[in-house]
Amino acid sequence: MNLRSGRLKGKMTADAASFTSSLEFDRRIFNADIRCNIAHTTMLKEQGIIAAADADKILNALKELKSEGIIALNLDPSVEDIHMALENYVTQKIGEVAGFMHTGKSRNDQVATDLRLVLKEEIEEIEKDVLNFIEIILEMASDHLETVMVGYTHLQHAQPTTFAHHLMAYANEVKRDFERIQDAKKHVDICPLGSAAMTGTGFPINRERTAELLGFRRVMENSIDAVSSRDFMAETVFALAMLASNLSKISEELIIWSSYEFRLIEISDEYSSTSSIMPQKKNPDVAEISRSKTAVLYGELITILTILKALPHSYNRDLQEVTPHLWNAVDTTRSMLNITSNMLSTVSFNTERGMELAMANFSTATELADLIVREKNLPFRIAHQIVGRTVTEAIDQGIRPENIDSKFLDKIAVDINGSPLKIKPELVENALNPYEIIKTRNVKGGPSPNAVKESILSLKEFIKGARN
Ligand code: ARG
Repeated sequence: MNLRSGRLKGKMTADAASFTSSLEFDRRIFNADIRCNIAHTTMLKEQGIIAAADADKILNALKELKSEGIIALNLDPSVEDIHMALENYVTQKIGEVAGFMHTGKSRNDQVATDLRLVLKEEIEEIEKDVLNFIEIILEMASDHLETVMVGYTHLQHAQPTTFAHHLMAYANEVKRDFERIQDAKKHVDICPLGSAAMTGTGFPINRERTAELLGFRRVMENSIDAVSSRDFMAETVFALAMLASNLSKISEELIIWSSYEFRLIEISDEYSSTSSIMPQKKNPDVAEISRSKTAVLYGELITILTILKALPHSYNRDLQEVTPHLWNAVDTTRSMLNITSNMLSTVSFNTERGMELAMANFSTATELADLIVREKNLPFRIAHQIVGRTVTEAIDQGIRPENIDSKFLDKIAVDINGSPLKIKPELVENALNPYEIIKTRNVKGGPSPNAVKESILSLKEFIKGARN
């Protein structure tokens, strides 16, 4: 059946046909389009809009197509899109009665429905992958509750923490990504079918019924909005871009932490490359590629938003151009997520180096200032000044952090505050011990092994709830 033979004279030029064709990326909605047609035809039959015998012929042809697969379709660009290819197939099978399938339906509501169906499935797969990823992080964290490392601000040594505590930052970030993706799904899971070209139809269709047959939560309220909007795609791609951003931070840390300067972690050989000239090299290429792919997500998001900008209502063919960017965003996210998950689980942490760095560069200074506040009831600002000066003096005199003692502190306290502190030596010693400090950071969300255990438990509960 030639769609053009009524209104138009002759064919599109070959270049115009291939320029405007969506067939390549329509492959992705092939099954959804069958489902959409089955639901619509079933409803037309139930409503008595088309004859039951005709509906059954259509339904049988659609089922045959489903089992034959996309290979059974003629996907020549002159066919325009998958909806026409599918209708042509049904027409070839059962003749002109196939035409009843399109009663009260347009490709405009049909493509919007198909895209929502497929995106919902993709989101559900991504949700599973994200939960599995969080679970891997939680397992690693459970193994590293007491693995000391230094935490950074401004990429400078800040305060002692544990590898588990750091990993839990990853887990919580990605948990929010999960929630954002779940939220986006709410706006995907609404059925446009029955909006037809843009004003619905005069046939007594039942939109709730098709929505139910297709497993949608509800129907779109306005037929113009239903065929015009792709904000559900932009919203989903934003959620994916944010996830990619968080994944890139993980890759970045795997890259710098595996450098000789840090020597904090080792990525397994399976996720590393070497150099064609420098025989000693072990390079974190997988993490680098993953880090860079974040840009693909941002690019797709901006492309989608830009296509949508200032489009007049209702359907415009521009909307078709959004689709490949959506799928590229989905596929790129999935590959990043899986590779990051697999690579991270191969990482080994150098516990000696973790402790060495935590001891090396005064990351214990905050606790020392806190100790002065606690023991001497001095305002924190004065304690901050005393410890700041202590660190400068220690650096100038080549004294290691753990060798600062209460006498050393007293000299500086006299200088700054007029009197010595006289804090018990063992208290000062404890305040300079990274692991002792970590144990005291028992506040919710902190690095003490107990606090981290609690947060692992709470995320495990979250995963359980999310999977149910
Ligand atoms: N391929 C089109 C798309 O993806 C399907 C809808 C076409 N509608 C139209 N009026 N040409 O948007």
